[in-house]
Amino acid sequence: MNTSLQIDLQQTAAAPLVAAYHRYMDELLVLQQESLVAGELSLALDFWQLHVAMLRCHAEIEDRYLEQVSAEQQASWRWPATLYLAEHRKILQFAERVEARLSAMQAPLALRQIVEEIDKQRSYKNLLEHHEEREEIALLLEMPKTAAVLTAALERDIVSQWTQLYQAQQPSLASLQQRLQRLRR
Ligand SMILES: [Fe+2]
Ligand SMILES: [Fe+2]
Repeated sequence: MNTSLQIDLQQTAAAPLVAAYHRYMDELLVLQQESLVAGELSLALDFWQLHVAMLRCHAEIEDRYLEQVSAEQQASWRWPATLYLAEHRKILQFAERVEARLSAMQAPLALRQIVEEIDKQRSYKNLLEHHEEREEIALLLEMPKTAAVLTAALERDIVSQWTQLYQAQQPSLASLQQRLQRLRR
């Protein structure tokens, strides 16, 4: 899994920008897992909250534009808009299950419990990774060519909505990272 917390806010083109937000969400998910492995349930939940908040905002904006793409505009697409929309719903459902499990856990965590939870998160991670890859190899390259006006509007929304959330998350993310850093060996 290729992950990074760094997003170049000067970037405005949809393809690299959306991919950067994918890597950001991926990294928050891994930081949550690292916290679990360290046995730090509350830290894991804090990283999870950042991950899921960005995920919900991400899917909401993508949905808004996918729903507006006409049949003609997506005629040459590798996968139809309905597939991405359905994947968003499934990812959000899986995320709710992860959240329910994490919220039901109680510290101190048994080692076996941690292993089981990381195992269970594999299906969520796979789903998210495959979806992000699909968007990166198809949708984000096809949309600017076939739906330029919508893509420009999407880019403006990304810059305002996702960037705003990203910036709002930075102070708490920095303190969570410091807490995790102390647990790393
Ligand atoms: Fe998506
Ligand atoms: Fe996406």
